[in-house]
Amino acid sequence: MAHEGVVDANNEAHLKKAARILSEGGVVAFPTETVYGLGADAFNEKAVCRIFEIKKRPSFDPLIVHVSDFAQVSLLWQEVPPLAEKLMRRFWPGPLTIVLPKKKEVPDVVTAGLGTVAVRMPQHDSALKLIGFLGRPVAAPSANIFGYTSPTTAQAVSDDLGEQVDLILDGGPTRIGVESTVIKIDKDRCYLLRPGGISLEQLAEFTPVLPQGPESGSAPESPGLLDSHYAPWTRFVLFEGTLQALVEKMKGFKTPTPRIGLLSFYEKTDSSFFESVEILSEKKDLVEAASKLFEAMRKLDKMHLDLIVALPVPRLGIGCAIMDRLEKASGSKSLDDFLENWKQ
Ligand code: TXA
Ligand code: MG
Repeated sequence: MAHEGVVDANNEAHLKKAARILSEGGVVAFPTETVYGLGADAFNEKAVCRIFEIKKRPSFDPLIVHVSDFAQVSLLWQEVPPLAEKLMRRFWPGPLTIVLPKKKEVPDVVTAGLGTVAVRMPQHDSALKLIGFLGRPVAAPSANIFGYTSPTTAQAVSDDLGEQVDLILDGGPTRIGVESTVIKIDKDRCYLLRPGGISLEQLAEFTPVLPQGPESGSAPESPGLLDSHYAPWTRFVLFEGTLQALVEKMKGFKTPTPRIGLLSFYEKTDSSFFESVEILSEKKDLVEAASKLFEAMRKLDKMHLDLIVALPVPRLGIGCAIMDRLEKASGSKSLDDFLENWKQ
């Protein structure tokens, strides 16, 4: 199938065309309220395999399946326990993904051979219409190269995946900006696999949320929990201190000084140590910060700096998801590791 370009996601004719491409086994990038997804018909194994190829995603990392109505869930899950039902009624459509035992008809490629499948209903008109026109669930990971920062604009999808995708639907910048919260429900208990667009505080009104999966083994419970993820190509570290402490530390640098970009929550600086500064929310609003996070990381990344340093945000509400992404992007590296290895 040939690449058919980038088209307006608000145009129904384009959405119908996208649905036809999916029904013929193609792969379409589409906006959701969180980030852009790379979609294929969840029951077409060949099409789903193409998602893994395009993203260079390892086959052990399962996909989220997207639905546009509650009835489609019965194609995917063996049953809907009362707790899942309650959470779906409250948070769907929205950025909450629920993992439950799958029906045997759900292809193993989608779930990476796991006995469970992750499902969510996106809160986005174009995404809901696309799935509705196809009339079947759509498997879709974030539309980025595996391990890299997720795309929140159609341009970011093009930059990463370009012409390998059959069609890119452009719905403008995504509203929330970080991925959905992923939970697993097991014996009426709720386990957090990935913090995201629905906060722990919101979930806690309905159910206690336990920190990790019910069974622990050597394989990651949710491969999004891998040590390094959501990372720009440039070296990236999270500095868990104040801007002032960071500037003090930089004074110890000898020449040649590294070119450093700063990813700041709200503080401005005129320090000459930073070649570029991205501020996530001048008014200290975590929701605004989440919506700007990945574009800010991509912008700094394009500058080919020696290092990007991120400052922390409060672990409140969606701040937990932001901190999770910053921690994953820096992996296990710290500013001190960078300084030790910097050639002076
Ligand atoms: O907001 C989102 O969730 C976006 C949009 C496109 O919907 N999608 C997304 O997909 O972030 P992806 O593939 O980048 O992340 C899916 C996460 C991964 O961490 C994966 O390991 C986990 O969900 N996951 C999927 N199926 C699972 C399962 N059966 N058990 C445990 N974790 C699962
Ligand atoms: Mg992803």
